[in-house]
Amino acid sequence: MTTIRKPVSVGIIGWPVSHSRSPLIHNYWIAKYGLSGNYSRLPIDPADNFETKIRDLVDRDFQGANVTIPHKEAAFAVSDELDSMAQKLGAVNLLSFEAGKIIGRNTDGYGFMAHLEAAASRYFNSDFKRKTVCLLGAGGATRAILAALADHGFELIHLCNRTRARAEEIAHLGAPSQVKIFDWEHRDLALEDAGLLINTTSLGMAGGLALDICLKGLSDDAIVYDIIYTPLETDLLKQAKARELLALDGLGMLLHQAVPSFEVWFGVRPDVTSDLYDLLVADLVGV
Ligand code: ATR
Repeated sequence: MTTIRKPVSVGIIGWPVSHSRSPLIHNYWIAKYGLSGNYSRLPIDPADNFETKIRDLVDRDFQGANVTIPHKEAAFAVSDELDSMAQKLGAVNLLSFEAGKIIGRNTDGYGFMAHLEAAASRYFNSDFKRKTVCLLGAGGATRAILAALADHGFELIHLCNRTRARAEEIAHLGAPSQVKIFDWEHRDLALEDAGLLINTTSLGMAGGLALDICLKGLSDDAIVYDIIYTPLETDLLKQAKARELLALDGLGMLLHQAVPSFEVWFGVRPDVTSDLYDLLVADLVGV
């Protein structure tokens, strides 16, 4: 007897969520794998009771949701069970409703690392993880990336943020890697001989301030990663390409962090393909 699976209802919770590309990614995979379901935008006003809104989704037979700003901490608080990364970060970006329980996970750091490994596999020898990583920023994305770097055995991380105290607050997430904190005005020193430079600040975003940094000190085979994807090619990545360094944009992280969500809800592990990347690039044109 064949079991007919009921359509899967999932979506993205945030405020605002109108800009989110997640519906494009997940609905592309739903169509590609011939599945039945829909991924929608689920705005939740921060003034509303978050838990009530989540219970309402459970009652409406949703299977789960992704969670973005400003609700990742509220999603953590509402979860009955958490994966180790969500526990470590105190933030949840993936909810699944399973057998009456709310399960919270965090896939942001996974998305970064999966993209890095896929795009830069030839760099992933033992020497690479021994080189310095220079990480700029101290926000939510920084926390996830710092924890992922530590989990993957990168030995030395130079953490550099405009507000030094915010860097100090999150440094413990880099354990057992060694984390050294640099003042913002010393960012050129922080990247000296680094094999990987990651920008997680908002500097370089379309319509915002530029990231003023000199890449001269980077190792000759360094990778430069900017988690920004509007624009796709930030000034930082232009500078990296001018030095013939591998330059990676934030679209890959967005695509890869979606993979475990889709797998949890639909039971199919989707592929991140160039077709999907191109679809998002086309959607971003003009942003
Ligand atoms: P997230 O969205 O990842 O949670 P966020 O909290 O919005 O990030 O933080 C944005 C990052 O960009 C922060 O590291 C911020 O530095 P501060 O911690 O000092 O606020 C950084 N940032 C924003 N504007 C900046 C500027 N003009 N110069 C340097 N850093 C800046």
